[in-house]
Amino acid sequence: MKIAVVGTGYVGLVTGTCFAEVGIDVTCIDIDQKKIDGLKEGIMPIYEPGLETMVKKNYEKGRLHFSTNLAESIQDCETAFIAVGTPPGEDGSADLKYVLAVAKSIGENMNNYMVVVTKSTVPVGTAQKVKKEVAAALKKRGVDIPFDVASNPEFLKEGAAIADFLKPDRIVVGVESEKAEEIMKKLYKPFLLNGHPTIFMDVPSAEMTKYAANSMLATKISFMNDIANLCEIMGADVNMVRKGIGSDNRIGNKFIYPGVGYGGSCFPKDVKALIKTAEDNGYTMSVLKAVEEVNERQKSVMVTKVKSHFGSDLKGKTFAVWGLSFKPKTDDMREAPSIVIINALLEMGAKVKAYDPIAMEEAKHDLKDTITYAKDEYDTLIDADALLLVTEWPEFRVPNFEVVGKLMKSKVIFDGRNIYDKQEVTNLGFDYYGIGI
Ligand code: UDX
Repeated sequence: MKIAVVGTGYVGLVTGTCFAEVGIDVTCIDIDQKKIDGLKEGIMPIYEPGLETMVKKNYEKGRLHFSTNLAESIQDCETAFIAVGTPPGEDGSADLKYVLAVAKSIGENMNNYMVVVTKSTVPVGTAQKVKKEVAAALKKRGVDIPFDVASNPEFLKEGAAIADFLKPDRIVVGVESEKAEEIMKKLYKPFLLNGHPTIFMDVPSAEMTKYAANSMLATKISFMNDIANLCEIMGADVNMVRKGIGSDNRIGNKFIYPGVGYGGSCFPKDVKALIKTAEDNGYTMSVLKAVEEVNERQKSVMVTKVKSHFGSDLKGKTFAVWGLSFKPKTDDMREAPSIVIINALLEMGAKVKAYDPIAMEEAKHDLKDTITYAKDEYDTLIDADALLLVTEWPEFRVPNFEVVGKLMKSKVIFDGRNIYDKQEVTNLGFDYYGIGI
């Protein structure tokens, strides 16, 4: 079996590598020569646990190839996955120019029957646009090669992408023909030995499934953040409320952790895009609009707490920030709440000293030299007026609070993820502020 994966971002690279891992011949294609050259030398364009080792192994075994030449690489392939970026346009809708450009090149160069699969998160209706692009390119060539389009949304979590791909909860595939269904079934069979299902459906439903899944998860988070804020006002403890509701298995105990708001490359973009799709079609997604509004507000909740403790003038004050990436185990800074929080502190005249185990290089693109980047978490605390825990990296979970207190100028903790025990740190003489407790 020979396949091509176009786009070597998170989705494309993980997809290609994991298919190679089960023995399929995969070529990962990207227009970025530097990225492709780097990959051949084992240099990863992204940080994802376990990826580097797996890429190197499969490249050396000759099952995983890297190329900038799409025309050559798709020859004799049965399947081509499109996994290029869909950046949000000005109005929140996903920009399809890269996806459609790839579709066009596929049509211009394919030599046999192919399933052209959209793997990027794309609005409902995109597979039809891909179909038109491929067909138009084939017509221009004056050839009549049959092909199918399919939609195969990914549900990978950054930081756990390899494990999610190798042992998926489910695979969702939208197809238009039995032949395409058979090919996709065969491709995914090695990953579903655990009995989890491949759910086949029509193409628009598959496209919608991705948006609905991410929007539902974002809704859970915003709902809990709203409840957390109300808990604070009413003197309730959201940690208790979370446990209380999470034990009802209709609600479930996942994705109900309040915090500083969701970030990343998927939730913010997908929620926006679904609102926009609905709007374009004369419908209003009222719940999702509120989900977005709550999330924006939530990114400032810690800053509000800082203001009520220190006042609005933070000149001469230094804040230690632990964690910059939008979540642990990734270097991804896209839509990271840390950026909003840090910029607000800087605007009020504060100095910020931050540490993140992986994301500091990435963070420099957004925050430049407006802050000091510390060598470790304890280094941020020297003469700090307060500690802000923004991203719950495992290494921040059990700090030596005695050392923490000694290093700081004043013992104040703003815990944006509720990872510390309020009672414990209060007993150690800290002023403690959590979310909803
Ligand atoms: C998400 C989806 O989980 C994945 O299925 C999809 O394919 C892409 O988007 P990812 O963006 O990697 O994956 O991150 P995820 O682990 O889902 O977390 C998203 C955001 O929600 C993070 O900012 C996280 O901090 C926040 N979050 C998550 C909460 O604030 N509370 C929670 O209870 C869970």
